[in-house]
Amino acid sequence: MDRKAQLMAMIEDRTATVGIIGLGYVGLPLATHFGKSGFRVIGFDLDSGKIERLLKGESYIRHVPIEPVTEMIRTGHFDATTDFDRLREADCILICVPTPLTDKMEPDLTYLVETTETIATRLRAGQLIVLESTTYPGTTEEMVLPRLQGGGMEAGKDFFLAYSPEREDPGNKSFSASNTPKVVGGVTPSCMTVAQILYDSITHAVTVSSARAAEMVKILENTYRSVNIALVNELKVLAHKMEIDIFEVINAAATKPFGYSPFYPGPGLGGHCIPIDPFYLSWKAREYDFTTRFIHLAGEINVAMPSYVIEKTVEALNRERKSMKGSRILILGVAYKKDVDDERESPSYVIMKMLRERGAEVSYNDPWIPQLRPTRKYDFRMKSTPITPKNLADADAVIIVTDHSAYDFADIVRHSRLVIDTRNATKGIAGAENKIVMA
Ligand SMILES: NC(=O)c1ccc[n+]([C@@H]2O[C@H](COP(=O)([O-])OP(=O)(O)OC[C@H]3O[C@@H](n4cnc5c(N)ncnc54)[C@H](O)[C@@H]3O)[C@@H](O)[C@H]2O)c1
Repeated sequence: MDRKAQLMAMIEDRTATVGIIGLGYVGLPLATHFGKSGFRVIGFDLDSGKIERLLKGESYIRHVPIEPVTEMIRTGHFDATTDFDRLREADCILICVPTPLTDKMEPDLTYLVETTETIATRLRAGQLIVLESTTYPGTTEEMVLPRLQGGGMEAGKDFFLAYSPEREDPGNKSFSASNTPKVVGGVTPSCMTVAQILYDSITHAVTVSSARAAEMVKILENTYRSVNIALVNELKVLAHKMEIDIFEVINAAATKPFGYSPFYPGPGLGGHCIPIDPFYLSWKAREYDFTTRFIHLAGEINVAMPSYVIEKTVEALNRERKSMKGSRILILGVAYKKDVDDERESPSYVIMKMLRERGAEVSYNDPWIPQLRPTRKYDFRMKSTPITPKNLADADAVIIVTDHSAYDFADIVRHSRLVIDTRNATKGIAGAENKIVMA
């Protein structure tokens, strides 16, 4: 049997071991899904703290339940390690490491290059390597492939290489890896077939003709969201001037059964995907003397949303004869979206920074983020303030940045003096119109 047939047979009868590099928001749920589908899984991460917690049966991501992991450990289906020499034990290796932007908004492939080199020095014949991290079209062929082939092995013959974008939507209870189709593109037809068989074993694999096309699919999906969010963010500002409720308009438009998908405005973009991924494409486009105008315009509008929230807060305080300088402002929600404990790229940080620059005294509450860790850009080192009637009443303004389900908004409005609502979270709360400002 040739290597391809051998690996496909091992995947089909679940004797293949799946190695996952990077056990974060993407890698950890993926490891669970492969384990649940009958594969032996080895998780790899540089962060020994994460590995220790997993092996002790503790999750470090709120929405990812630990029980399936502990059950997999008990049955010998899961192990986690910082020992990358154990990559040789894996038949399929999936790369889920971060792909952020540099301060100059350019792709930062440091983690990916490091991981590729770690695999390259341990690559053995018959392995499948799949890149799952989001990146610009061409990364798998131009950056990963030459490094893996550097030792003399050939992709499609000795080992297999593909790209399959992750479609994780943290906190979404309706869709997980098992009912979300997975797009797959290989660097050769054989690579594509092997990767297709692997993903068909946990969900439905959708094949495209190349790794580059699969990379572009992911960026199209996230650019589509970024552009549509920018559209409703811009229309929100106009609707406020026209005294039209933009949420009422969007919800009514969403009753159209064809040709319209609803997107909702907010305080700005957050998370590891939508604010970042489109810029991977615009960076690559420069190589082709091409300007991605939609991406830039959407970025410009979305990035301006925190300033709009500040402007509305200043206006509202002015009406109360208060200045921003010296005002006590309580931010509700630092996570970039509701019900998750992920604050990466969150607009809350920008809003807090702008408030401080204007002399406000800022505090925050987030039920899922008890304290703020220093990030590349911000160093707040604050602890979450409990939501008590007194703390709410003490604030000159409360800004709802993230509409966590755990919040009782009627209660929040009752005890607050002024509420700036960026999420339509106070919809339907009667009798408090004079103290709620939509932003
Ligand atoms: N978070 C999401 O919702 C989401 C959705 C779709 C795609 N993505 C993409 O998936 C990728 C991973 O994102 P994430 O949110 O899981 O990131 P994350 O930061 O939550 O997890 C990445 C993990 O990789 C580890 N790591 C970093 N360098 C490593 C190395 N050299 N070797 C081993 N481990 C290493 C980190 O310690 C961390 O645990 C990114 O490209 C991201 O754009 C994320």
